[in-house]
Amino acid sequence: MDLQHLMDRFGASSAEPVLGGHSEASVVRLERRNEVLYYKQGIILNDEADRLEWLSGTGFPCPQVVDRGNNWLLTTELSGRDASDDWPATDRPAVLAAIATGLRELHALSEAPFSSPFPGKPEVVTHGDYAAPNVFIDPVTLQFSGMLDVGKLGMGDPYADLGVMYKSLSNGMNPQYGLVPGARFFVEQYGGDPDDPRIPYYIGLDDSESFWASV
Ligand SMILES: Nc1ncnc2c1ncn2[C@@H]1O[C@H](COP(=O)(O)OP(=O)(O)O)[C@@H](O)[C@H]1O
Ligand SMILES: [Mg+2]
Repeated sequence: MDLQHLMDRFGASSAEPVLGGHSEASVVRLERRNEVLYYKQGIILNDEADRLEWLSGTGFPCPQVVDRGNNWLLTTELSGRDASDDWPATDRPAVLAAIATGLRELHALSEAPFSSPFPGKPEVVTHGDYAAPNVFIDPVTLQFSGMLDVGKLGMGDPYADLGVMYKSLSNGMNPQYGLVPGARFFVEQYGGDPDDPRIPYYIGLDDSESFWASV
């Protein structure tokens, strides 16, 4: 990624690559006058831009699309900190509860014009990649402040999102939440059953390269 070229193109005074995303996409944090913008480029970015425009149009908290083009997207900064940042130990139960609240609010939206890539009954608007780095929390109030990375958003089974977050909290990527007990607490806060067999079922699909190659 040519950072100087991006700065010239968008009139930004600084450009800093964001490391640690799990997808094939590249993300760059841009400063332009007194605003912060995020540039994202990758193979399914047209799908993500369509979904983000739809989601922000509902009023749901998420980045706003500032500009888009062929497989790239420029968005406003989402406020808060993502759930994969280090949180003080005393805040972590509230952060898990906020992750659950945000998911319930998403699942309460009425129908989206997209389908989840996961199989299952298309009951609710699902995120499709509801993992800790994609969920934002206000560090002062500890309330849910929004979500991003919505390229797989669509009508699906709510347990697809519960499964992906269960994996994110229990697989060692975010050990601060206490692994399996933290993941189970999240599912209970949502109002779900941590022993539902759909949790391991959707984790298995999400982990399967052949599943993703087939969708
Ligand atoms: N609009 C935004 N506002 C705030 N942070 C962002 C924004 N876009 C991206 N980020 C940061 O960059 C990280 C990676 O972006 P994301 O869209 O999740 O890419 P990936 O598909 O690689 O996971 C996010 O977890 C978040 O910390
Ligand atoms: Mg992400």
